[in-house]
Amino acid sequence: MDLTVRGKLFTPQGLREGCVRIAGGWIEEVGSELPPEGEVLDFRGKGKVVLPGLIDMHVHLRDFRLSYKEDFRTGTRAAAKGGYTVVADMPNTLPRVNTLSVLRRREALGRRRAVVDFGLYFGVPERGEELRKEIGKRCLGIKVYLPEEMGKETLGEALCFAARERLLVVVHAEDPSLFRNGRRPPQAEAAGIRRMAEWSLRGGFRLHITHLSSSAGLEELVRWKRKLVLSADTCPHYLLLTSRHERKPLARVFPPLRGPGDRTALLRGIREGEIEAVTSDHAPHSLEEKREPDGPGGFPGLETELPLLLTLVRKGRLGLADVVRACSLNPALLLGLPAGRIERGCIGNLTVVDLEKSFRIDPSEFESKAKYSPFEGMRVTGAASCTIVRGRPVFLEGRVEGGRGVNVKSYGEAR
Ligand code: DOR
Ligand code: ZN
Repeated sequence: MDLTVRGKLFTPQGLREGCVRIAGGWIEEVGSELPPEGEVLDFRGKGKVVLPGLIDMHVHLRDFRLSYKEDFRTGTRAAAKGGYTVVADMPNTLPRVNTLSVLRRREALGRRRAVVDFGLYFGVPERGEELRKEIGKRCLGIKVYLPEEMGKETLGEALCFAARERLLVVVHAEDPSLFRNGRRPPQAEAAGIRRMAEWSLRGGFRLHITHLSSSAGLEELVRWKRKLVLSADTCPHYLLLTSRHERKPLARVFPPLRGPGDRTALLRGIREGEIEAVTSDHAPHSLEEKREPDGPGGFPGLETELPLLLTLVRKGRLGLADVVRACSLNPALLLGLPAGRIERGCIGNLTVVDLEKSFRIDPSEFESKAKYSPFEGMRVTGAASCTIVRGRPVFLEGRVEGGRGVNVKSYGEAR
């Protein structure tokens, strides 16, 4: 099925009125005027901009035995509504995605239930024998959860494997030896980054620090960037909230929320390109779990991420180009996907945004099973109006349509 999209396009040459034609799932042509072929979607109008499809490199879709928190269907419906065409799923599921057999099951489940495209990460296995070539065919990288895995016997093997197979190593970089009485200071993040960077320098694997939360962490990252190729992402909650908000149990998250100075430093880090990407760390739990005194960290983020970022654009704290770079272009480059640009030869994923749409965040309207948010009631301006995955609109006119997601590792094969 062919699709022609008209509107103000965000292209490598800047914003301009034009048309994109998607055929067989790929962008076939971009031009100022194209003869309408197949279905035509016209987004010309005030405040609408057509962006390359957004990619979230860090989400937890749960499912398996944690499907009461979220499943592939609800998590990817949340993604579609939030403007995300691709989501990369973390392996801390039940059972964990750290054996080949669970990995194969996970991929099959995603193909049955996902409405947008998905990527998978592999967790550090219990036994080194699980580290086989096939992982590289199905996964975007290896996820390391340093707070629990720093001393794990197989960690070294997993890192060597990642170096050999050229797999990205995505790290939750908090060094638990610096946790004190349940507190997780910014120094623990800086120390975690240092440790991983030293290993990366020696072992030769490609390191990515996820959900960077502090200016101490950012400083450590920037120091290592002089010696080493490494990258990082941060999340909207570290850009907008501070530890003051974490007194509410719903806002509890790991790494924890920090101070106003950290928030400012991270925003500057994005503008200056030291932080390559923004992720949601969409981490749904049941409301009952969140209300427990020492409840789990994390909250849903896929349906608030883009409105929050576009509101920062509105306020002049970020540019629209920063958002596109952090949510589309750079994630595509980091994950090695033929995406992130509105250009012939890229996958046919597009996110149409309405920069004028103003509303209050209302979690009761979420597609996610987790219907709460630390941003509840916040007034935001800007949201997705249409999400297109391989030429098919999966979110349009306020409705999520039933798409059929594929593992993004198959993008290469489809051509
Ligand atoms: O807040 C968090 N939630 N931090 C993590 O590291 C894990 C995540 C989750 O899976 O819920
Ligand atoms: Zn996470």
